[in-house]
Amino acid sequence: MCGIISYIGDKEIVPLLIKGLKILEYRGYDSAGLCINNGQELKVIKRSGRISELEKSDDLENLKGDVGIAHTRWATHGVPNEINAHPHLDCKKEIAIVHNGIIENYVGLREILKKKGHSFISNTDSEVIAHLIEDFYQGDLTEATINALRCVDGTFGLAVMKKNENKIVAARRGSPLIVGVGDNEMFVCSDAAGILEHTKKVIYLDDNEVATITKEDYNIRDVYGNGIDKKVHEIKWDIGQIEKKGFKHFMLKEIFEQPEALENTLRGRIKDENIKLSLNLDTRSIKRIIFIACGTSWHSALIGKYIIEKINRIPVEVDYASEFRYRNPIVQEYDLVIAISQSGETADTLAAINEAKSKKAKTLGIVNVVGSTISREVDSGIYLHSGPEIGVASTKAFTGQVLAILLFSLYIEQEKGNKIDHSLIEEISRLPEKARMIFNDSEKIRKIADDLKESKAFLFLGRGINFPVALEGALKLKEISYIHAEGYPTAEMKHGPIALIENGFPVIFVLNKDNLTKKCLSNIEEIKSRGGKIIIVTNDRELEEVSDEIIYVPFTKEELSPILNVIPLQLLSYYIADLKGIDPDKPRNLAKSVTVE
Ligand code: G6P
Repeated sequence: MCGIISYIGDKEIVPLLIKGLKILEYRGYDSAGLCINNGQELKVIKRSGRISELEKSDDLENLKGDVGIAHTRWATHGVPNEINAHPHLDCKKEIAIVHNGIIENYVGLREILKKKGHSFISNTDSEVIAHLIEDFYQGDLTEATINALRCVDGTFGLAVMKKNENKIVAARRGSPLIVGVGDNEMFVCSDAAGILEHTKKVIYLDDNEVATITKEDYNIRDVYGNGIDKKVHEIKWDIGQIEKKGFKHFMLKEIFEQPEALENTLRGRIKDENIKLSLNLDTRSIKRIIFIACGTSWHSALIGKYIIEKINRIPVEVDYASEFRYRNPIVQEYDLVIAISQSGETADTLAAINEAKSKKAKTLGIVNVVGSTISREVDSGIYLHSGPEIGVASTKAFTGQVLAILLFSLYIEQEKGNKIDHSLIEEISRLPEKARMIFNDSEKIRKIADDLKESKAFLFLGRGINFPVALEGALKLKEISYIHAEGYPTAEMKHGPIALIENGFPVIFVLNKDNLTKKCLSNIEEIKSRGGKIIIVTNDRELEEVSDEIIYVPFTKEELSPILNVIPLQLLSYYIADLKGIDPDKPRNLAKSVTVE
């Protein structure tokens, strides 16, 4: 949510910042701006809308300097216009800041600062930081920033620069920020992806840490002024992984990448039918599991409940992280709280983990982004290794999460000394190939999308382990095509949604060949007799006659079926969005990494 990139060094600064912003654009795309110290003054250029709008600005031409900060915004306070775009300046236009997060006490601070003579231009909460720093400034930007941050409540990922000071001060509380360590150049960025082209050496800032960077050096302290020794990490992936590689959109690329992504999640984790997970956790003492997650990750948590209760017979609860954190949940020492998060930065999930830790529960993270905050906060973790996910709508991380949960479930059995189902292990190894087979039908799915793209609403129905798949199908469709969609347990549709059915209303059934197929067939007939259009995603070859459209997926074990069943739904949503002319990588109002409440 909001992307920050800052640079100090000798490279041409404008193209470097713009390119970095474009990589970070998935974090927010309401407005963008940058500030460069050109030797005489702080030059700020900002535009509402996408980074491509900022790039068009003539003012960028001939803009030179060796210190700069830049920002792409997902609006919280203040409409997404040019005035509210970052960077924000102090009264004297000598201090510039870019901010990610929310300053909760900004109204009070603004009143105090106004009384002291400061004048404000924007409607943002962020602008108070620039004025606060100005107020505290007595010759040292780091000191002034630390003093200012002691006054603010809320969250921040922050970069600050000042005319006549050849440095950038960066600080973090709740919003991710890293320092990139280069050769005679340094960076501050929300995400390693933004600077990967220049350096793979990064320092992950933790909450309440403040970094001061110059061209040659960095210094990190906490907000109480204590010096901190930080480890420099080496990023293991490269820039090629964040390119579209001939695909029209990242989302399409990431859907098609799923077979390899699944292979990566599995790599080294099954040997001689043994599950290899290096966990710092005694799984034998777990009496209850609580999953916490948001969005698509919450759907994989729901699937996790089916998997773990079936295989391990351990009771599982699934909570929205945003609800869990505020309802004083009952959590006990023998509970394992599992956070699922692609980004590892979702503010609510992070807060929920901290709530669980405060109640002495053990915590486990199922996270994609290596080095992310959640992965550092939990007692133990399983990385997905799905590779960078850039499209705002999560796809390959979802299937990776389900697979990781299944591996964890089998690991629990193994640690208990129980025999693991041999046929399930075999089926896991066939999964990537089966996922690949689904793409043979992508043209057919595109045609179905073309046929359905003008529909005003959709209903997605699934039972058992496929109910969360129906929820995920509905979420995918509404987030990228702006068509209202609801996911429901198949049999439950009689209690309300059936009222929506009229001629041509599309109802998508997600259906495995199992003991419930017959029950679902009755529900299909109930929809059909009211004129609904029946689209079925299934591994059952005997449903052709009852469907208007049918998409087959390869047969697999129940525990693995959500991974295959969701792929046609991802493709369907993608094609509908694309055919409607919507950019599925950057759907309106959304952001990939939600680092505010
Ligand atoms: C946002 C994204 C979703 C994602 C959710 C949770 O809403 O748009 O795609 O599922 O956040 O993110 P996380 O990184 O915690 O999985």
